[in-house]
Amino acid sequence: IRSSMLIDKNFTVSPVDPRVYGSFIEHLGRAVYGGIYDPGHPTADGNGFRQDAIEVIKALQVPIIRYPGGNFVSGYNWEDGVGPKSERKRLLELAWWTTETNEVGTNEFADWAKLVGSDVMMAVNLGTRGMDAARNLVEYCNHPGGTYWSDLRISHGYKEPHRFKTWCLGNEMDGPWQIGAKTAVEYGRLANETAKVMKWVDPSIELVACGSSSSGMSTFADWEATVLDLTYDQVDYLSLHTYYNNNNNDTANFLAKSLDMDQFIDSVAAICDYVKAKKRSKKTIMLSLDEWNVWNTIGTSRADERWQIAPPEFEDVYTHEDALAVGCFLITLLKHADRVKMACIAQLINVIAPIMTETNGAIWLQTTYYPFLHASNFGRGTVLQANISSPKYDSKDFTDVPYLEAISVFDEEQGLITVFAVNRHLEEQMELSLDLRSFGEVSVIEHIVMESEDLKATNTKSNPRNVVPHAGGRTAADNGSVQAILNKASWNVIRLQ
Ligand code: AHR
Repeated sequence: IRSSMLIDKNFTVSPVDPRVYGSFIEHLGRAVYGGIYDPGHPTADGNGFRQDAIEVIKALQVPIIRYPGGNFVSGYNWEDGVGPKSERKRLLELAWWTTETNEVGTNEFADWAKLVGSDVMMAVNLGTRGMDAARNLVEYCNHPGGTYWSDLRISHGYKEPHRFKTWCLGNEMDGPWQIGAKTAVEYGRLANETAKVMKWVDPSIELVACGSSSSGMSTFADWEATVLDLTYDQVDYLSLHTYYNNNNNDTANFLAKSLDMDQFIDSVAAICDYVKAKKRSKKTIMLSLDEWNVWNTIGTSRADERWQIAPPEFEDVYTHEDALAVGCFLITLLKHADRVKMACIAQLINVIAPIMTETNGAIWLQTTYYPFLHASNFGRGTVLQANISSPKYDSKDFTDVPYLEAISVFDEEQGLITVFAVNRHLEEQMELSLDLRSFGEVSVIEHIVMESEDLKATNTKSNPRNVVPHAGGRTAADNGSVQAILNKASWNVIRLQ
């Protein structure tokens, strides 16, 4: 099959906000305990953080990491996670029915985030708590000193404030599974009043209001409209959460699910703009896709054996086709760079994650690590409009699915053009012709390919490099036009200058 793409530096979508390459670490499963924190591990530093994990996370260049939840945050008393470790309480954790030891809390996470070069996207508890705990937490984290909460932080060994800039007003408050779930009106009022006092404590912070837990919620769209109606002037972003899987084993349909993400983003942007129009506001609400990923084990929590400490949960083993889907999702996020300013692949380590560890043992990288690595490392600059012509197919849930999913990013400073492309065709290679007329002569730096004869191939502890990208994809440049071969069911990164 043949396809083409016109890439013109004068037709831009928007600069990429690096925070679209964000991620998420929740007190869930072995993400914190056994993931980033594993004091018994041979590579652990003096604070118990695994250096081997730090190294592979640093390589991803994740600019922001959401913490401490997720569902966990809706029952979390942040005060339990600060101060001398010997005095921290062990508590029943009701989101995941585990025992929380509180060995890691806000200050430890801030330390760790620095080590990996990330900012923290803090979430406050609007399930069991509210505005008082939230404003105190902002004071504890961000106020320089001279008040009870800021001095408490200093007494805990943190003279300098953490200066967390981005804060989530609760998590998935529409979901019946959420501790302290609320109606849109209940949540909207609480979020607005909480936002006010948080910003009074620190006017430099940015706030994210909870959108729906997914577009499948029965209250979807009404929830967004009502919450924004009640919070519009106080918040800066609205969150979107979306997970996909191929549990029906229909790969053509699975790879088309980025079209659903695309429509989800369009719909939520439209709702934000409806409220903007209604309020005659000049302010535009931006989107934070602060939970997205492939999640095949969704709904399979092992919590029936209650009150374990950091039991393995949602340790999805990702396949080659999952990596292709992640590639399609990343391309979709970039297509919406004008509106999606933050996004978090959920999660980062051990829980639906690109990185896996054995507690006190090995570390390995899942298939999905690689498209994320490429997008984050090379997808910096300005997104250019995707003018694509591609043959299409119909699948169970989608019509007119282009076999080619692609986007390009131009780094003007360095004169680099990067094309990210997935060939969704499961049997045929694709001849892709790129028209780069506005750039004049270009040359190929490299064409990275991720492919596998087996769509279900995985990386595991015993075979960690089963599916990895390789250089040497077939791309040739000639006089402003570039011809590339995209192998069947492949993820491609074509780097040009
Ligand atoms: O990321 C796992 C869980 O998925 C989060 O805790 C929750 O917000 C979502 O339902």
